Amino acid sequence: MLKKFNLFHSLLGIFFKNRPYDKRTVEISNESYSVRAIVLDDIKDLLSIEREVYAGELPWTKTAFLMELQAAEPHLYLLIQKDEKTIGFIGCRIFGKDAHITNVAVLTQNQGKGIGSFLIREVIQFARANNCETISLEVRISNKNAQRVYRQLGFASSTIKPAYYTENKEDALEMILHLKEV
Ligand SMILES: CC(C)(COP(=O)(O)OP(=O)(O)OC[C@H]1O[C@@H](n2cnc3c(N)ncnc32)[C@H](O)[C@@H]1OP(=O)(O)O)[C@@H](O)C(=O)NCCC(=O)NCCS
Repeated sequence: MLKKFNLFHSLLGIFFKNRPYDKRTVEISNESYSVRAIVLDDIKDLLSIEREVYAGELPWTKTAFLMELQAAEPHLYLLIQKDEKTIGFIGCRIFGKDAHITNVAVLTQNQGKGIGSFLIREVIQFARANNCETISLEVRISNKNAQRVYRQLGFASSTIKPAYYTENKEDALEMILHLKEV
């Protein structure tokens, strides 16, 4: 029975792993948004979100996005739109049994409405479908706002990476979500 169940689970995993992320309309706190996979033409919109939310910090470059979107490892890059305007995005890349969230940002005026949490939950589903055991990310030690959102979703602090952010030598807090525990 267990073996059969495992086989069924593996087949389900293969099905979901290879399924493209179809464009969909979602409701988050009674508001309607559109979510879809990011394509290369979206990079300019992502860069402008980066400039807005990471003012004064080191935002990602066009090259960084290009490399992520064309990475050999399984990855998921999603954007969310309101009235056809891109207001947030998330990216993750799978390394072995870990899905690493590489970037997540929501325009300031759209923050606090559950959008970031929604995007992270989509990554959680993607990680599960790819048989990952953990989801990890780094966050600035000073970014208490983002850390609170991650904690609410079940992430716990792991290690501190000293001077991880090169422009101001700020430490990063690594946070990990163990998928078997949620
Ligand atoms: C971190 C970030 C991605 C979170 O996205 P977000 O959309 O603001 O997150 P959420 O709305 O899901 O959660 C934020 C808060 O809003 C609350 N919230 C959720 N739904 C809500 C709603 N419908 N109305 C009001 N508040 C809501 C959450 O409970 C959470 O509450 P808290 O302040 O008590 O922790 C976003 O703040 C951001 O882009 N920050 C700048 C860039 C950044 O720091 N990125 C992370 C780098 S590691």
